[in-house]
Amino acid sequence: MAFDGHDLNDYLQSAINVAKAGGELIIETFYKEKSIETKSSSADLVTETDKAVEKLIFSTLKNKYPQHSFIGEESVSDGEVVEYTNNATWMVDPVDGTCNFVHSFPTVAVSIGLTINKQAVVGVVYNPILNEMYTAIKGGGAFLNSKPIKVSGQTDLCKSLIIHELGSGREADKMEINRQNIHRVVQEGKVHGTRSMGSAALNMSFVARGAAEAYFEYGLHCWDYCAATIIVQEAGGCVRDPGGGEVDLMARRVIGGSSVKIVEDISKLITPIEYERD
Ligand code: IPD
Ligand code: CA
Repeated sequence: MAFDGHDLNDYLQSAINVAKAGGELIIETFYKEKSIETKSSSADLVTETDKAVEKLIFSTLKNKYPQHSFIGEESVSDGEVVEYTNNATWMVDPVDGTCNFVHSFPTVAVSIGLTINKQAVVGVVYNPILNEMYTAIKGGGAFLNSKPIKVSGQTDLCKSLIIHELGSGREADKMEINRQNIHRVVQEGKVHGTRSMGSAALNMSFVARGAAEAYFEYGLHCWDYCAATIIVQEAGGCVRDPGGGEVDLMARRVIGGSSVKIVEDISKLITPIEYERD
């Protein structure tokens, strides 16, 4: 599949291979004691494994695609400043669900997305612990372990299962708006239930596989939702900015759902939480 002169299949295969290699490092350390550091808050964690997996992914992909741009969670944390442009740009979260990883809670994922012209076109979300590999390229459909997946297609909010997150920030005012948002979705939306898996990439991939109807979050980062955005879109779902309009990977907010209707209905019920852009 070609996109703007790029061979997306080649990029996808490279992302799958390096996600598997990164996954091996996660498997090796998953049940061991980890050395943990905190970043922006007491709940924003990083381990040696996060850093090692990002290093592996970056060195492999940079070697193969020296002209491309790279944005990675741990490199940005270490102070790297990257300008986001129309260039082919890899967005990498080496361990999405680091808090889960720290607790040996098995929803963790290597998340590798690629944008071209600021559009997500390749996505790989790999949970090495449960051996689940979600993949998509623009125009090629979405897959779980090589089998096609589709969103549920549900349009009725009161028949929906909704995924949300508390996130890793601990500012009281933001947490309060989040709490009210979740409350409103449950009470006014009369949804079947809510879930939180502690990994934005897996939350969205669950919408893509039809296991939940929507996921929304404010305060996450581009590397958390870039890969899963194309996976949900290719599974027939709708991914938008919760304020309306197209998804904005730098806006630190996203809503993905099984239908436009579900996304619009939830967007009406939730209040924006302001974060500085990535
Ligand atoms: C976090 C996870 C979590 C989400 C946070 C993210 P990390 O990513 O995706 O589900 O609620 O906003 O920061 O830190 O585990 O890579
Ligand atoms: Ca991470």
